[in-house]
Amino acid sequence: MTLHQETTHPPTTGTDTDTGTGTGTDASSAASLRELARAELERARRRTAALTDCLDEAGLTAQHSPLMSPLVWDLAHVANQEDFWLVRQAGGRPGVRPDIDHLYDAFRHPRADRPALPLLTPGQARDYGARVRDLALEVLENSDPDDPGAGPLLRDAFVFGMIAQHEQQHDETMLATHQLRTGEPVLHAPAPPPAPAGAAALPREVLVPGGPFTMGTDTDPWALDNERPAHTVELPAFWLDTVPVTNAAYQEFIAAGGYRDPRWWHPRGWAHKEHAGLEAPQFWLRDSSGWLRRRFGRTEPLPPEEPVLHVCWYEADAYARWAGRRLPTEAEWEKAARHDPATGRSRRHPWGDTPPGPDHANLGQRHLQPAPAGSFPAGAAPSGARQLLGDVWEWTSSDFLPYPGFAAFPYREYSEVFFGSEYKVLRGGAFGVAPVACRSTFRNWDYPIRRQIFAGFRTARDASGTDA
Ligand SMILES: [Fe+2]
Repeated sequence: MTLHQETTHPPTTGTDTDTGTGTGTDASSAASLRELARAELERARRRTAALTDCLDEAGLTAQHSPLMSPLVWDLAHVANQEDFWLVRQAGGRPGVRPDIDHLYDAFRHPRADRPALPLLTPGQARDYGARVRDLALEVLENSDPDDPGAGPLLRDAFVFGMIAQHEQQHDETMLATHQLRTGEPVLHAPAPPPAPAGAAALPREVLVPGGPFTMGTDTDPWALDNERPAHTVELPAFWLDTVPVTNAAYQEFIAAGGYRDPRWWHPRGWAHKEHAGLEAPQFWLRDSSGWLRRRFGRTEPLPPEEPVLHVCWYEADAYARWAGRRLPTEAEWEKAARHDPATGRSRRHPWGDTPPGPDHANLGQRHLQPAPAGSFPAGAAPSGARQLLGDVWEWTSSDFLPYPGFAAFPYREYSEVFFGSEYKVLRGGAFGVAPVACRSTFRNWDYPIRRQIFAGFRTARDASGTDA
């Protein structure tokens, strides 16, 4: 089964030109927002089905890794969140199965403990999801996203967009579970196109000029709490890699003894590397012919021009030091991705405000791998950097912290409880991220030891006075 996911049309938005631009959208009408929300909910459910219908009951109930839930937990969890937020909170209805909320509360049960819970069977989980969906769509049909008195959950159909993003994020988590499971391949998709002409001749790095830019958003109707509010950040000029670090470049780090030299490693990273026995990115294997990698059940020669994937933050940080560079901060990444020096505006996407198309970025699980470095010239940022959105999540040097003026919405457990130095921010989204959950303001976060996520990185360096 091909897991092609169609390109989506995210909400029409204003753009953030400066701080305090206020909220609101130029989204045309209640009917179009409802239609968009319905389309995104249905798109997410088709993807969930594609990721779960390809496995039998045993494959859905097994725990393929202690890091992940059994897929059947995700299947019912997305339905339970929809039951809670759309049927009960938005719709004011009794809900379908409030009695099982505790089983699917991610905070109550760590992933490793979930297989032992009295979970719904795959069939029960699918029925539950379908019953909830019918009611959620009734709530949507009866809502008025344009009503200024509708309240923040319903205004701009926010809560429907939030739940569509939530299901797509779990679909990405389920994709990571597929990558960890052993056995015959069950996912199929065409390879991305080869790198375009001239990709190999791109400059190694691009200069992002110094000065202020608008970080975060007030105007994107489905942006989540941690992306808000828009605020001005002043940055000195810096250089950023034009494309993400490739497998070929990363192999040089390995060949140069990078994993054996503590000079390049954060002290906690070195200790973790030693303890975990890390010698190469996860899913890499070596035989007499060289490096191979396993991807969704297939083992193949390592594609040299593909962005490196499945490295933890400590590995990314060590590579950058070895290369005489550093990881970009989160603010640098966002400025490189959004800021248009010609107008001073921050765009929604690197290429502008138009929705992502297949020429802009590798998103939505159209492919099951990153595209070669230098792909998608039409998706380049004003700085000239390519592939900032899609392909691989990019580790940044930044801890996950609130923006000035942050307000938790609609619940503290979405972001606030994760703020602090334990988590590092990732930006940009990978090939398995849905367009509805991808924009230049979107913030992802994870522990610096995590490798099963679809993460790579690019490097940066300060610009000297003469550069800028
Ligand atoms: Fe969740």
